[in-house]
Amino acid sequence: MTVELRVGPTPTGAPALDLRPWDDAGVKPLIDIYRDPALRRWTRVPVTGIEEAHRWLELQRDGWRTGERLSFAVWETDRIVGHVVVKRTAGQADRAEVGYWTAAEVRGRGIASRALETLSGWAFATLTGVTRLELLHQVDNIASCRVAEKTGYVYQQTLPARPPFPLDGHQHLRRAPR
Ligand SMILES: CC(C)(COP(=O)(O)OP(=O)(O)OC[C@H]1O[C@@H](n2cnc3c(N)ncnc32)[C@H](O)[C@@H]1OP(=O)(O)O)[C@@H](O)C(=O)NCCC(=O)NCCS
Repeated sequence: MTVELRVGPTPTGAPALDLRPWDDAGVKPLIDIYRDPALRRWTRVPVTGIEEAHRWLELQRDGWRTGERLSFAVWETDRIVGHVVVKRTAGQADRAEVGYWTAAEVRGRGIASRALETLSGWAFATLTGVTRLELLHQVDNIASCRVAEKTGYVYQQTLPARPPFPLDGHQHLRRAPR
């Protein structure tokens, strides 16, 4: 399954976003974006050079092959500004987990929220049987908590720390529309 999604422009003039499965055009942007210490802090798989970037991209391609990791590069005009993903676990047909990041220089412009909104709508419309999307962030990731709340992911509970992240996490949940 290969999909491209579009997030329309905003009434205030923010340009449209295109969500496309990652390909080799992502190598350089990935390396540049992953220089940000905040991003490294909140993500699991490091990208510090070309080899790791290719490995990271292979992980994304594998994810589409298996259906367990459906990820998209977020394009604004002609540059990659973020990443969104839906992760599925075998044996848990009714749920999936979402994740996201944006490049440091575009944060605070609503890109994560807009991309996540479109991704969530697509996931519910397309992934047969999925009735709940979960979102997990560490308790002190205030920006991520805000993205969750703005996008209809309601706080559910605080879960114990899960390595490699040292602190407890917030679980948020968005249910499929009726
Ligand atoms: C979390 C992240 C994806 C948000 O991306 P973004 O494109 O800036 O998201 P948005 O612009 O849609 O929304 C960010 C919101 O957080 C708020 N915010 C950011 N930093 C904040 C802080 N320190 N305290 C309170 N609010 C904060 C912004 O004001 C904004 O809310 P608003 O629209 O009500 O003003 C981005 O910060 C990021 O990539 N962080 C590193 C990776 C990461 O944490 N990923 C998530 C792992 S669970």
